[in-house]
Amino acid sequence: MSASKQSYDPVEVTPLHPEEVARMRDEALGAIAKAADLDELKHVRIAHAGDRSPLALANREIGALPPAARADAGKRVGAARAAIAEALRARETELEEERDRRALAEEAVDVTLPWDRAPRGARHPLTTLQERMADVFVAMGFEIAEGPEVEAEWFNFDALNFEPDHPARTMQDTLFVAGASGGEDSGVLLRTHTSPVQVRALLARPLPVYVVCPGKVFRSDEPDATHSPVFHQLEGLVVDEGITMAHLRGAIDAFIAGMFGEGLATRFRPSYFPFTEPSAEVDMQCFACRGASVEPGAPPCRACKSEGWIELGGCGVVNPWVLVSAGIDPERYSGWAFGLGVERTLMFRHGAEDMRDMFEGDIRFTLPFGMEV
Ligand code: PHE
Repeated sequence: MSASKQSYDPVEVTPLHPEEVARMRDEALGAIAKAADLDELKHVRIAHAGDRSPLALANREIGALPPAARADAGKRVGAARAAIAEALRARETELEEERDRRALAEEAVDVTLPWDRAPRGARHPLTTLQERMADVFVAMGFEIAEGPEVEAEWFNFDALNFEPDHPARTMQDTLFVAGASGGEDSGVLLRTHTSPVQVRALLARPLPVYVVCPGKVFRSDEPDATHSPVFHQLEGLVVDEGITMAHLRGAIDAFIAGMFGEGLATRFRPSYFPFTEPSAEVDMQCFACRGASVEPGAPPCRACKSEGWIELGGCGVVNPWVLVSAGIDPERYSGWAFGLGVERTLMFRHGAEDMRDMFEGDIRFTLPFGMEV
């Protein structure tokens, strides 16, 4: 034993006095009880149970006591430290439970709160109508065909038997894409109808071909209640062996039944398109008044403007020259085609009076069509 230890008076080892140990313990227990959260408890643990806590330091002094006093002091300090450790454990459990309870309360989600105050977008009525029209043909076994909106003049006109000086080619109707020189001779245009897809479908697909093509078309018209420079058509094309105009009539009748219900008459009026021969304009009996509004004294009909009939679009038997353009033998194959206006259909089917409403983007027009996505 060293000289310094021999001269050490055990009575003077203050931190080991019973009252002092009790005071340190009580101070620790008080701090533990006061710790308001786990973070505070962590600091209390370091201060009162850590390596440099008063009781840990007191423990180191035990060696300085005379052997007879050591066991007693050791028990005292040990008991105090055990009480502190137990109190820390208990408080920790308590605070953890409290934290979990608080998290459950604070992070609770009220599932009854309204979630849809910001309206979700919906597809445009033209898109959904166009799809519904195409679907009637898909149900009959047709496939969907597509073609580019920026089209080669050859597909839009030449392959469809338009003569080089056909008036539809001129700038009045057609939006040409400027060539490198800035002129109209680029051979590229915005398609003026979906009919170029007829030729593309015939070139790309094995026969027989049964397709519909919904899509955007472009003409240099001023927008007004019945015109828009951009509008939509639904093209139909069948090429197979033994196809006649009767099949065209039957398909149109099935389409009208699918879209407007059974029992509406159709009529074909003679017309002209370079790519069909014979050609027709197809009308359907008005689905709203069923023709009754033409009778004298009958109430007027908004759907057909009291004409009894509604014009659907153009159609006809595919001109053999179109088949030849696509490398098909017109002696063996024949077909028919039609082109229906989607905007027109939206107008009479839903009583939309002004085509501009369809592209101005005012949701007061689109909302009544619902939020179909
Ligand atoms: N493409 C023609 C138009 O835009 C419509 C049509 C299509 C006519 C197919 C006959 C056959 O007016």
